[in-house]
Amino acid sequence: MVTVALAGAASGFGLTMLRTFLHINSKSTTPYRFVLLSRSDKPELAALGIDVRPVDYTNHAQLVAALGDVHTVFSVIGGSVEAMKDAQLALLAAAKEAGVRRFAPSEYAGISNDTIDLYHGKDEVWTTAKAVAQKTGMEVTSFQCGIFMSTFATGTTKPVTEVGKREGAKTGEEEALAGLRPWNFVVNMRAGTADLPGDGTAPIVFTEMRDIATFVYNALSLEQWPEVMGMRGDVKSYRDMLCIIERVQGRRFLVKENSLDEMRAQAAGDPGKMRPAAAGPLLSSRPSLLLSRLVP
Ligand SMILES: NC(=O)c1ccc[n+]([C@@H]2O[C@H](COP(=O)([O-])OP(=O)(O)OC[C@H]3O[C@@H](n4cnc5c(N)ncnc54)[C@H](OP(=O)(O)O)[C@@H]3O)[C@@H](O)[C@H]2O)c1
Repeated sequence: MVTVALAGAASGFGLTMLRTFLHINSKSTTPYRFVLLSRSDKPELAALGIDVRPVDYTNHAQLVAALGDVHTVFSVIGGSVEAMKDAQLALLAAAKEAGVRRFAPSEYAGISNDTIDLYHGKDEVWTTAKAVAQKTGMEVTSFQCGIFMSTFATGTTKPVTEVGKREGAKTGEEEALAGLRPWNFVVNMRAGTADLPGDGTAPIVFTEMRDIATFVYNALSLEQWPEVMGMRGDVKSYRDMLCIIERVQGRRFLVKENSLDEMRAQAAGDPGKMRPAAAGPLLSSRPSLLLSRLVP
């Protein structure tokens, strides 16, 4: 059985990915063995039968040992610029030494990380991963999915569905957020306001988080990994999304158009804020493997 390690999958997007993987795996005739690399024990996940391997990203030898039997590593490390750079570089170095065959860094955004200050460390990781691939033959890929659709989930009054029940969500909002913290980025679903980048007409890729996880799971069985695996759940502008949101909520939103300079100034005071340029850099422009191909 092929062993696949997920690093940082105990919260946020990674936890949704892990849960989706386990669900698909439970129905598969050729299941994978999943290992969780975490900085702590995570007894609640170990209780589900997951092989939790506690790691210290500053301890190279320990990381190499934890990856000894691992074929593929998915990093979903998040949290801070330092984590996404330093912990991932340490993970990559250990993966190289342990002879890991495939490595996918924590990308899961658009084609460029320039627009998001929090993501600045990712570029160095990706450049290093490509260099390792060239030197050792390790396959590396960047999964590009645009913006998570769950960024519109905050405040939803929808009830829990079968998916939420399976994942242990207590409310429909928890299910819809899929591990994201309540999010008011660009559109504030509760307040009924929108801070659009430019005039809000730039096309943007939006993809549902469980669809991303399903796409990634199916990528495990590809014979070769291309360097970029792009996917598009849908392509819509924020203006298009507002039309839908206003129809569903039955009210008009207070909308402000912002110049790029205004967005930059706002982002300067908040390192986590994205700065989506009017040209739509979050468009995942290379859907090399469309969802329809990888997601049956
Ligand atoms: N496209 C979008 O709209 C969108 C939105 C949100 C996030 N994302 C992407 O999704 C990925 C995951 O983000 P997230 O927000 O879900 O992550 P997160 O929940 O903030 O963190 C994920 C995990 O990272 C690990 N971590 C945190 N700080 C660390 C450190 N200093 N050293 C090592 N590990 C550390 C933790 O795992 P342990 O405690 O178990 O070690 C944590 O559970 C990122 O690539 C992010 O850019 C994309």
